[in-house]
Amino acid sequence: MTATFPPAFLWGTATAAHQVEGGNTQNHYWAWEHAEHSPFAEVSGDACDSYHRWREDLDLVAGSGLGAYRFSLEWSRIEPEEGEVSRAGLDHYRRMVDGCLERGLTPMVTLMHFTTPRWFHEDGAWTSAKAADRFARFTETVLPILADVPYTITINEPNLASVLPVLGAMAARGEQISGLPRPDQRLADAFLDAHRASAQVLRGAGVTHGLSLVGQEWIVEDGGDDEMVAHRAAMEDQFLEVAGEGDFVGMQIYSCARIGPDGPVAGDPDLMTLAHMEYRPGALGASVRRVAEVLPDTPIVVTENGIATTDDAQRIAFTGEALGSLAQAIADGVDVRGYVHWSLLDNFEWFAGYTPTFGLVEVDRQTFVRTPKPSLAWLGGVAQANAV
Ligand code: NOJ
Repeated sequence: MTATFPPAFLWGTATAAHQVEGGNTQNHYWAWEHAEHSPFAEVSGDACDSYHRWREDLDLVAGSGLGAYRFSLEWSRIEPEEGEVSRAGLDHYRRMVDGCLERGLTPMVTLMHFTTPRWFHEDGAWTSAKAADRFARFTETVLPILADVPYTITINEPNLASVLPVLGAMAARGEQISGLPRPDQRLADAFLDAHRASAQVLRGAGVTHGLSLVGQEWIVEDGGDDEMVAHRAAMEDQFLEVAGEGDFVGMQIYSCARIGPDGPVAGDPDLMTLAHMEYRPGALGASVRRVAEVLPDTPIVVTENGIATTDDAQRIAFTGEALGSLAQAIADGVDVRGYVHWSLLDNFEWFAGYTPTFGLVEVDRQTFVRTPKPSLAWLGGVAQANAV
């Protein structure tokens, strides 16, 4: 059965600076990756060398039939020392925006995708009393990049970033993660303050903006009703309340969360993908439906969805089913404006390194040669047809 999407629906694919650029030596992840007892399976190193190969990356997106490219700014390249702005860093990202526009691609820009400059991290990071002002000042600095950018995302997944220190510690101990723990509330509050400060700058400058959150299909296991509601409130609702103040809410949906009376419980091990997420394509439709119940007046953009697999036919099957569930939610009245697939490239998947491959394009780890997988042309075809 064919499901069609609304007119002007946006179709795109995404990357994030640290995961693809390479050589981001001035941010705190680089330091963390190289620390003794690092929780990272491997270091990011040259990543996909996209800092130099971004034109080729944009050509791949434009050539596929997709209409949008989401990428992020690496704060440490733009403000390597506090208050010192790198003109070259700013120009680089402005050229990327222009490169999108020249190719007919809609640029979507994330201001902060997990990584921060070392000076920021070493001086209190997000819970410093100065953090929101620092992020607002960075937002002001990058305003010239954002002219003609119709979708700016302030902070990527602050709800996941609020559990990252815990996840990092678990990864360092070699513990299997069965589900996301509840966020550290101090961090959650700090991210939300920083988002508000940045959003105020963007609003003043007339830049259309939103916050992107990780979302999931919430599944109650026996006796877990109360715990699920409490867990969901901490992980999702408190962030949604603030996201509702923006022009859109970005949702990044991969799987489900199963919650029992004592918190998250593991799903069926046979259903785990390479990123240890349960194979659950219909989570996409389920999550946007729930977001629309909480925020009935805020347009939703799916700013990430995808699967880590070496089997590209499975990627196509997963994405097709996920899009079917999304089309059904839209047909039932959920206001979704676009779908952005994670990711354009096989890239650096944080703690797990380069093994979980989310890309529509394979990247040779020695030569950086890009080889499109069949899923790239398939998704481009979906975009062209505006139907799946
Ligand atoms: C969400 C994050 O934004 C992205 O950086 C990550 O690679 C994907 N999820 C997959 O885990």
